[in-house]
Amino acid sequence: MKVKIVIALIGFLIITGNLSAQTADRPENDKYRPQFHFTPKKAWMNDPNGMVYLNGKYHLFFQHNPDSTVWGPMHWGHAISTDLMHWEEQPIALYPDSLGTIFSGSAVVDINNTSGFGTEGRVPLVAIFTHHNHDLEKKGSGVYQYQSLAYSLDEGKTWTKYKGNPVLPNPGIKDFRDPKVMWHEAGKKWVMTLATMDRITFYSSPDLKTWSKESEFGKDQGGHGGVWECPDLFSLKLNGRTHWVLLVSINPGGPGGGSATQYFIGQFDGKSFKPDHQDTRWIDYGTDNYAGITWSNTGNRKIFIGWMNNWQYANLVPTDSWRSAMTIPRELKLKQVDNEIFVSSEPVKELEKITLKPVSLTNIKVRGSEDFSSRFNTNGVFKLRLNSDNLQSFAIVLANDLGEKVRIGYDESSNRYYIDRTKAGKNSFEKGFAKVHYAPRIGKSRSTNITLLVDAASVELFADNGLTVMTDIFFPNKTMNKVRLDADASFYIKSLTFVPIDSIWN
Ligand code: FRU
Repeated sequence: MKVKIVIALIGFLIITGNLSAQTADRPENDKYRPQFHFTPKKAWMNDPNGMVYLNGKYHLFFQHNPDSTVWGPMHWGHAISTDLMHWEEQPIALYPDSLGTIFSGSAVVDINNTSGFGTEGRVPLVAIFTHHNHDLEKKGSGVYQYQSLAYSLDEGKTWTKYKGNPVLPNPGIKDFRDPKVMWHEAGKKWVMTLATMDRITFYSSPDLKTWSKESEFGKDQGGHGGVWECPDLFSLKLNGRTHWVLLVSINPGGPGGGSATQYFIGQFDGKSFKPDHQDTRWIDYGTDNYAGITWSNTGNRKIFIGWMNNWQYANLVPTDSWRSAMTIPRELKLKQVDNEIFVSSEPVKELEKITLKPVSLTNIKVRGSEDFSSRFNTNGVFKLRLNSDNLQSFAIVLANDLGEKVRIGYDESSNRYYIDRTKAGKNSFEKGFAKVHYAPRIGKSRSTNITLLVDAASVELFADNGLTVMTDIFFPNKTMNKVRLDADASFYIKSLTFVPIDSIWN
């Protein structure tokens, strides 16, 4: 946290504190404003929080500092969507109070009114979040984070903090935060998955107000290059069998440097989690997908969204009146490769609501370099889908008139995908930004499919039906309006489909 504050201060000195006024429903459209990813209209955003689906609406809350473009006193911002693509920003949901600022957490629909917050038959929406007390932090006690509740009886419009807060006091652990709560049907109880420094602690409760410790997981498991944050626990089925997935964000210590999110697949009996594998796995091998969790109350469908940034440079990225976007919402599934099971992520099908007329090319052979820019007529915001029966080294190159470029490719000799943003434009704001990031290929077949989502300042790569995923941001000085394919040997492409994406601001 200290590092974050220092970075925030440096960022604050670089960026003037005053934010330009925003228009009522259209944000300032500077050149890095994403055209199909969620961004706050103005000011700072980090983690997605409290995502819950209720009565046809997806709620997205987020860590928000409404008065500045750098991290600071945290509030919960709020946005609502009916299709996961178009978002309507709402008034701030949770403000700091005498117990502290409002750090990350989750929200549940308390259908059975176990909390007793529901009155006159209204179902309460309950937010479970971390209070971070900066006064206690300054005093150096080392104990300043605890878990609290707020509830809403009008579908998230207005919120009341629970008088009995905090509901889970701090037992003496410095990093004690980011509660993700779910209803455990077999145990007929709530389960809280909490990040507790270098491990996860599970708690359970009959009513969301009283919590008992169940177990710990992870002290000797997975990546430990940094503090554990923002966990999530949920079940997914594969061939009729239930498996549990535990997401754990870690900062620093990610595969490309800085922040990243690892996952474990295993069994959970309502008390403890037992992993089925020992290797460390990442939900995304790019550098810009952090603190992601899933929506609650979506049945068997698990929809994930992450913060498309990285603590290593989040406070310094060169946007003006706002900072940070979310990833595209992704559906998580389990997939089997040989005898192992992995978590795959792919853009939610709702993306099709904003895609425009595709241009499809079939049976192409690329040897050397082939430019597709005129055939695709791109404005730099699109989806590209490539199918090949015979994967070998190649790169898709996004470029602009200034010669700036991002290379997204596959290297056969190391069996890795990569994103190279070393020549992608602005990068001097942080010394570790201009790097090549790598991801192992997990799929085994000779055939491959690649989906790229390209927005004004980001690229998301979903390879082999979402088995390998990478998300990277970049800051070109002009729009990346060119698309080229490079391959040394002849690379046969069965189909290459370019799909323009409509701006969600239209
Ligand atoms: C993760 C995180 C959380 C914390 C929040 C504070 O990015 O550090 O652990 O609750 O951000 O804004």
